[in-house]
Amino acid sequence: MRAAVIIPAAGSGTRTGLKTPKPFILLDGEPLVLHSLRVFQRHRAVALIQPVLPRDLLGTFRRRVLQRYPLNKCLPPVAGGRERQDSVFMGLKALPEDVEIVVVHDAARPFITAAVITRVIEAAARHGAALAAVPAQDTIKMRSRRGMVVETVDRSSLWQAQTPQAFRAGILREAHSRASSDGYRGTDDASLVERLGLPVRLVEGSSRNMKVTTPGDLALARALVRKQ
Ligand code: C5P
Repeated sequence: MRAAVIIPAAGSGTRTGLKTPKPFILLDGEPLVLHSLRVFQRHRAVALIQPVLPRDLLGTFRRRVLQRYPLNKCLPPVAGGRERQDSVFMGLKALPEDVEIVVVHDAARPFITAAVITRVIEAAARHGAALAAVPAQDTIKMRSRRGMVVETVDRSSLWQAQTPQAFRAGILREAHSRASSDGYRGTDDASLVERLGLPVRLVEGSSRNMKVTTPGDLALARALVRKQ
């Protein structure tokens, strides 16, 4: 099953507290976005990679990433939109019509592994849609508007969603078109499929597959790289 991958990297990245745009922050001497691109470039099931960058960084991406590293599966980058969902939709529209499976993976998660990618692709081929997730480790409280505990939620059935998420292409196209025409905003792509009443399979993600958002996350990511 050959897959195309959308890499949304068009966020503002302001929460890192750095001037450097997030995709180009150096991690182990290389741009953050390159870390996940490289894993997909090497994956046998991946045929195409569609990076999505802020419009004003398309040239920087070409110069600092595409021209410097061997990434022959990468299509020319396209400009993203106001929110992540818009950026994924832009990437989706840029993919060839005949793609069978589409994987979406945030550029902000540099520690993605080939094993997790294989799991989501195989599960999407079988069930239509799948995402990587990890069981909730903390006790979760529901909070009232006044800051009081309403209840302690049973965490045994709670999982934290990650990317990659993978879909049969037609399902993801339908989910995004419907969300767009309904004005629906979800915080991940799987939720757009869920609202169509279609099945979505959870597969085992990894606690290492962290998202780099804050300065603390970046420090943690740099420590993880040093240990590897
Ligand atoms: O902001 P958040 O951490 O949810 O972003 C997750 C991913 O979505 C990041 O890789 C970010 O670059 C991307 N994104 C995007 N377009 C936006 C906002 C976020 O591609 N407008």
